[in-house]
Amino acid sequence: MIAPERVTTGVPGLDPLLGGGFFPGRPYLVTGPNGSGRTLFGLQFLLEGIRKGEPVLLVAVDEPPHEILENVRSFGWDLSKIHTMDATPGQLQYRRLGDLQEIKSLHEVRSMQEMGESARRSSPATDEISIQSIYLKLRRQMEVLPARRVVIDSMTSIRHFALRASSDKQAERTEIQSLLRFLSEREATVLVTSRPPEDRELTPEQVLARGEIALSREWHGHGTRRSLRIRRFRGSAHDGDEHPLEIRKEGLVVLDGPLGAEPTPA
Ligand SMILES: Nc1ncnc2c1ncn2[C@@H]1O[C@H](COP(=O)(O)OP(=O)(O)OP(=O)(O)O)[C@@H](O)[C@H]1O
Ligand SMILES: [Mg+2]
Repeated sequence: MIAPERVTTGVPGLDPLLGGGFFPGRPYLVTGPNGSGRTLFGLQFLLEGIRKGEPVLLVAVDEPPHEILENVRSFGWDLSKIHTMDATPGQLQYRRLGDLQEIKSLHEVRSMQEMGESARRSSPATDEISIQSIYLKLRRQMEVLPARRVVIDSMTSIRHFALRASSDKQAERTEIQSLLRFLSEREATVLVTSRPPEDRELTPEQVLARGEIALSREWHGHGTRRSLRIRRFRGSAHDGDEHPLEIRKEGLVVLDGPLGAEPTPA
């Protein structure tokens, strides 16, 4: 049998550790604390798709697209071909509902270019943020634009801003499973980002993803030490060691050697 072709990650140094890259049409998870590089990873993954001529889609929940554009300007990346669903709460309307805040509006998908042009112009409120509403939007969107790569940044924020209390863990897991299965059926390779759970319980995305890449960022006396470790990767031999990770002018880069004792400047 011929081994399936791999989906290259766009992060220099990572593909060899994965035996060539991700498997197409499967969901993967990138976890890490704040500032560890999850969004950069997602953008590099999408840009790699653009380089190969693939349609790609970013579901932006953590920060609005115009802020992403500003934050990564120093890398000189052309993000204009990344289609983006702005699912951030920043532009959303809040209405007090007893102890609940009703959160409305998920904007329609536009290209990053349009997002930049219309930055800070607010759009009418339409929907609430929830896994369900994002799933429904994605279903419609995938009809129009069958994206080969989808990044959801981040599942933690979707959970945080969802109206429904997450006490119904089984329902939440089923919803995430439906969403990921739908994208797999459409042959999209998916990258979900999330912060590590505060308790020891696994998040649904940790259970459902076919692989998990953990980023870390630690402060040392003189700077920051970043690292990357492939915690899980189904279907292939892989390198499970912790590797140094650097942010260079081209973005995140995984270094080959073991984790050094000395931190690199932040
Ligand atoms: N041009 C740059 N050069 C070097 N480092 C940068 C540059 N732009 C951003 N960074 C660093 O990259 C890190 C942010 O990466 P990223 O936004 O991908 O992290 P994140 O895990 O998504 O964090 P967040 O919790 O903010 O969502 C920060 O530590 C920031 O200092
Ligand atoms: Mg981020």
